[in-house]
Amino acid sequence: MEFSTSTAELSALKTDCIIVGVFDGGKLSKPAKALDKASKGAVEKAVGHGDMTGKTGSTLLLQGLAGIAAKRVLLVGCGAEKDYGRAAYSACLRAAFKALKSSAATDVTIPLETAAGAADVAWKAEQGAILALDGAYRYTRTKSKADTRNVGKAVTFHLDGKVDGKAMQAALKRGEAIGEGVALTKELGNLPPNIATPTYLADTAKDLAKKYGFKCTILEKKDMEKLGMNTLLSVSKASYQPPKFIVLEHHGGKKGAAPIVLVGKGITFDTGGISLKPGAEMDEMKYDMQGAGSVIGVMKTVGLLKLPLNIVMLVPTCENMPGGNATRPGDVVKSMNGITVEILNTDAEGRLILCDALTYAERYKPACVVDAATLTGAMVIALGHITTGVFANDDKLAQELVDAGKVAQDAAWHLPMGAEYDELLKSNFADLPNISGGRAGGSITAACFLGRFTKSYKWAHMDIAGTAWKSGAEKGATGRPVPLLANFLIKRAGK
Ligand code: BES
Ligand code: MN
Ligand code: ZN
Repeated sequence: MEFSTSTAELSALKTDCIIVGVFDGGKLSKPAKALDKASKGAVEKAVGHGDMTGKTGSTLLLQGLAGIAAKRVLLVGCGAEKDYGRAAYSACLRAAFKALKSSAATDVTIPLETAAGAADVAWKAEQGAILALDGAYRYTRTKSKADTRNVGKAVTFHLDGKVDGKAMQAALKRGEAIGEGVALTKELGNLPPNIATPTYLADTAKDLAKKYGFKCTILEKKDMEKLGMNTLLSVSKASYQPPKFIVLEHHGGKKGAAPIVLVGKGITFDTGGISLKPGAEMDEMKYDMQGAGSVIGVMKTVGLLKLPLNIVMLVPTCENMPGGNATRPGDVVKSMNGITVEILNTDAEGRLILCDALTYAERYKPACVVDAATLTGAMVIALGHITTGVFANDDKLAQELVDAGKVAQDAAWHLPMGAEYDELLKSNFADLPNISGGRAGGSITAACFLGRFTKSYKWAHMDIAGTAWKSGAEKGATGRPVPLLANFLIKRAGK
């Protein structure tokens, strides 16, 4: 996708489509007014017919307006003008790209008003680039006849005044890099589980390493056995797919500076194991690797931006299958750091692969560790499909992630952990059970389990079970929390 800026007269721009906003009550935004003037009232007239009331996210496509060089003008409802902020801007652009997906428009123009100030324009350009790439994404890999329409092949941000060109270019570069990261994450998630295997994830990491100069190490089963990653291996036991432990290192910061370690849960399919899941919607458990998908995706962003940071990505990845050789409820295994775990439910497998990865992270003496995981169904009950749950042993780190999510319009919320929850982790036969406390506070007790393995560094855990993908007619990966993670890293890099 090509991104550029223009300060030419809006009505004279040769483009497939200009996207302009309309507020509640049919009130035209400034760029909509400019087009109305150039078309001698055609925009007002269309709005006057009543098909565009300004309701947030509604759209109306106008074709071939006289006096306007653009082939189309897409009106987007922006809601109440007084509430029009970053959230509404993002919602409107999402709706606009969705509406254009079924049109033949390829190059699109987005007018940005410069009056709001340089920082705001730069943010809107960055966010616009992300949403353009997001809106243009199409899953095609396993379809015989792919839809090749290509909205957003080129996106022009029209500026009605002067802005800092350098800041604008930097914003577009960030947006493109984040958008590309999101696209990779979505693709990894959407690929069927017979393609997106642990081996496939490892190969994807190898490709990124080659392209962006990362160091890539893939630990095989025998390596993991040597390290004593027995909780991880207990999950993969009954699968014919070999497990992998993927390590990517980006040495972009000062030599010897403590790295940020990102960890992603990479269960490429979660049947539940012997504690088998019910059949309905089990296909969606192909998305159980989206913690991995998102840290792999954000590494692409890191590579594209050459972020001046040291970053390590760890992905424990395997399949959770039943079988004659499968781990049984009641089995006790010793994790890499020596803690023994009684596996009371083989469906609580995410924490079993993560705990060994979190132990492995210690060797980097990290500045902090952030993991992302589709860890608990309870997360969906707590925060729905809107907000990612954040848990941490460091309040400042949690706040940093929540703040990054605000900037990125990728919402996250800090939930509690603490001793009273932690005390629920009791086993009669091992140091730790893999489930405890019943269903109540299930996301928190899962976080507490992980917390037993993160004592030596600052750590935050993001439970993305509700936000990593959408179900139903629009089933598909969202690419979250790549925008949040990218913003967190960019801020840490001081960029
Ligand atoms: N991958 C699931 C969590 C999940 C379930 C995410 C549904 C999104 C939608 C995880 O491995 C799991 O099965 N967790 C169990 C834990 C329970 C056995 C304590 C759960 O949430 O039911
Ligand atoms: Mn499970
Ligand atoms: Zn799982």
